[in-house]
Amino acid sequence: MEGITIYCYRNAHHSLFGEGIDVYYTPFLSIYKQHSIKKRDMREILPEHNSDRGIRIIPQIMANEADEIIWALNDLHLRGYDEINLNMGCPVGTVVSKHKGSGMLEVPDRLYELFSRVFDDKITSEVKFSVKTRLGLNDPHEFEQILPVLNKFPFSEVIIHPRVRTQMYKGVPDMELFEWAYENSTNPVGYNGNIFKPEDFNRITEKFPNLYEVMIGRGLVANPALAREISAGDGITLEELKGFIEKLESSYKEEIHADESIMHKMKEIWFYVGGLLVKDDGSDAESYIHKIRTSKNISEYRNAVRSVYKNCRIKEQ
Ligand SMILES: Cc1cc2nc3c(=O)[nH]c(=O)nc-3n(C[C@H](O)[C@H](O)[C@H](O)COP(=O)(O)O)c2cc1C
Repeated sequence: MEGITIYCYRNAHHSLFGEGIDVYYTPFLSIYKQHSIKKRDMREILPEHNSDRGIRIIPQIMANEADEIIWALNDLHLRGYDEINLNMGCPVGTVVSKHKGSGMLEVPDRLYELFSRVFDDKITSEVKFSVKTRLGLNDPHEFEQILPVLNKFPFSEVIIHPRVRTQMYKGVPDMELFEWAYENSTNPVGYNGNIFKPEDFNRITEKFPNLYEVMIGRGLVANPALAREISAGDGITLEELKGFIEKLESSYKEEIHADESIMHKMKEIWFYVGGLLVKDDGSDAESYIHKIRTSKNISEYRNAVRSVYKNCRIKEQ
């Protein structure tokens, strides 16, 4: 997730909660027309931030021109990656207006031309190339025109987040259209969207037993132990959450030098993990989380965090 699950986050997460996770995807890497990857994004894929630490990643790229995609596949392949994912789901206005992310879904004929050129290149026989897509821009039935285009090409996987762009991250995934896509895709299908509890994961994998992969975004940030819970059953403890928060703070120091900036990142994390907690008496812990989110300086932040550890506990599921 852009801005959140950067390599510092993934390292901290992997060291404490890697159980049950096969692979981490990078947030999208912007590919420039002059054939380069943004300097900041490069740090996401350096071996010393990933494979040297035993972490398997799949780089995700954001690009909408065949030559940019071909360049990125070659470049990432040379850097040792054998699987690369293309983002066709990002709903953010500045991305969509450039016809990138979910903006690529607007004209299926253009997608056909784009992928014809990409798959004409021999690099696609050397690396696995997958896409992550939404159902469309405005109407989920747009996918009835998009899937047949994707079916014309041998993607290693089509990961479907069954929402349309206008929903952003709200509303419910369209499981009817997903089911149609699952049944009609000639490529392996992955599922993404609203997996917040082991029951959500189990429901999806029981209904769609041939899924190639389940990708989890916000649910894993909100509950760092979610994959472990799914695979082994052990839920997170307050001590573990505390350990994770501490590890994350020191991990962010590798990349972010100003304490204030680290605090902003941590506040964002608390927005997600705050939902794990209740007050000791079992009532809503929101007032404590709010104090963290609105703290104006480091000492306020630290006091607010201490007060959470002192007065809150993990909510029973
Ligand atoms: C802040 C934020 C940043 C995101 N960045 C990315 C990204 O870089 N690449 C991507 O494929 N999806 C990104 N997503 C989308 C999630 O990966 C996921 O598709 C979406 O949130 C639905 O799945 P979930 O319910 O498991 O989160 C982002 C979502 C959020 C909220």
